[in-house]
Amino acid sequence: MKEIIKVDLKTRKIETGKCKTDLLCVGMFSDAKGLDKTCKELDKQLDGAISQLINLGDFKGKTGQTAMLYTNKEIAASRIILAGLGEKKKVTLDSVRDAAANISNKAVELKAGQLSITLQSALSGKFDMVTVGQVIAEGLYIGSYRYDEYITKDDDGRLDCLKAELIDTDSAKLRKLNKGLSSGAIIGKAQSYARTIANRPGNVITPQSLAEEAKKITKGVKELSCTVFDEKQLQQKGMGGILAVGSGSKNKPRLIVLRYTPKGGAAKSPVIGLVGKAITFDSGGISIKPAANMDQMKFDKSGGIAVLATMKAVAEMGLKVNVYGIIPAAENMPGGSSYRPGDIVSTFSGKTVEVQNTDAEGRMILCDALHYAVKQNCDVIVDIATLTGACVVALGKYMAGLMGNDDNLIKQLKKASKDSGERLWHLPTGPEYLEEMKSKIADLKNTGSRWGGACTASAFLGEFVGETKWAHIDMAGVDMFEGGNKAGGVGSRGFGVRLLTGFLQNINKK
Ligand code: BES
Ligand code: MN
Ligand code: ZN
Repeated sequence: MKEIIKVDLKTRKIETGKCKTDLLCVGMFSDAKGLDKTCKELDKQLDGAISQLINLGDFKGKTGQTAMLYTNKEIAASRIILAGLGEKKKVTLDSVRDAAANISNKAVELKAGQLSITLQSALSGKFDMVTVGQVIAEGLYIGSYRYDEYITKDDDGRLDCLKAELIDTDSAKLRKLNKGLSSGAIIGKAQSYARTIANRPGNVITPQSLAEEAKKITKGVKELSCTVFDEKQLQQKGMGGILAVGSGSKNKPRLIVLRYTPKGGAAKSPVIGLVGKAITFDSGGISIKPAANMDQMKFDKSGGIAVLATMKAVAEMGLKVNVYGIIPAAENMPGGSSYRPGDIVSTFSGKTVEVQNTDAEGRMILCDALHYAVKQNCDVIVDIATLTGACVVALGKYMAGLMGNDDNLIKQLKKASKDSGERLWHLPTGPEYLEEMKSKIADLKNTGSRWGGACTASAFLGEFVGETKWAHIDMAGVDMFEGGNKAGGVGSRGFGVRLLTGFLQNINKK
């Protein structure tokens, strides 16, 4: 089986024209008047090839746009790729990350093993170079990612490794960029890891194999531990929600608990509980889903995987925070032992739930995991889940829904969202929505009315966190659909890894 494409990141002190490389990247703005210094120099060396291309209107510097030039051996690089950054005054770290993703995507397409990037000088004035290094690293991972581990034919001869470097002549700038590259590489690698695990199908990733994967990432990492509760232990604990959902499958459910305690401890830092839904396949159960696109429900584990990959990144970065990664994992299948509509389930918290629809299974496993987080004395809980189709209807594929009970926590997550480019939109929840989730014959029921499904689902979850500060991210739309990617192949985007890691990075910053 093929390994995913490795990304090797460096900085190098060298003049652009002297840089020997397969692909030299030059970023450009759409509203720039003339070429910047580096570009002018290159243009001269190439007998005006760059200005010709621009004068012909073949490249306008728009976001997402790229153009290739062959250098005829007039400079040390074999090819040049111009990467559009959009309007200078509108450039954001997102556009820099996207541009990096575009060019690494191209580099992989071209099988260019060595990619060298020069930075637009204007970026220095606008952004901190450490952050620029980080977002470029993240982008390079995103764009070079391919999910092809099950493609046995290798007539494409794709790269095993993309070597990328940021080049400049200013050592101080390179030092900063390099620092950013290191944290960006950890996040980028974790996100690619998340994409791979999410892209693996339901016959490969089961609750049990996911638990093994979680154990694997803790190997040799002292700060990270992993406890897995199997079916028997779930029974002993009374985790009726997870058990009910998992009962129809021969792949038995698990509760995976990762714990990160930084070296030397972090006494002053709050304990953060990250809870992620991992339905390894959601057929809907007895309330079975229609056949069309049911294959996409292999992505119903994405929330749990975002948590898993975030734990990996947090440990590698050595962040000074205490974090629990709590991942309830089950396969939702119809069968002779499945839970049924009408069942009343006793959850871990003691609250009873009337099952109206076995396809509303995410909240059934999350309620036990949330209560577990409360019992571990988490000060803050953030859950992330591909929870409702209603959220996809409300927000589409570009933003995840954000709900919760604490304005400050919502604010912190919004900031992490802005910085990471993983977008969130605040949606309401509260007593009106909760009213719809009350049952006549149990404490709660697992569906509300036809309307506001993301908000009613969130109100249901809110019943299991007590007074703990809590936020809920409904990522159903952003990670489930094939083909929604801008660059870097089909399948999962690994949504949530950058967002949650960024959120944790900021916890102790005032
Ligand atoms: N995993 C789905 C949510 C989902 C649907 C994600 C479509 C991505 C795309 C979830 O388990 C589900 O089936 N939710 C139901 C809830 C309903 C029965 C109350 C839904 O949204 O239809
Ligand atoms: Mn479902
Ligand atoms: Zn589901």
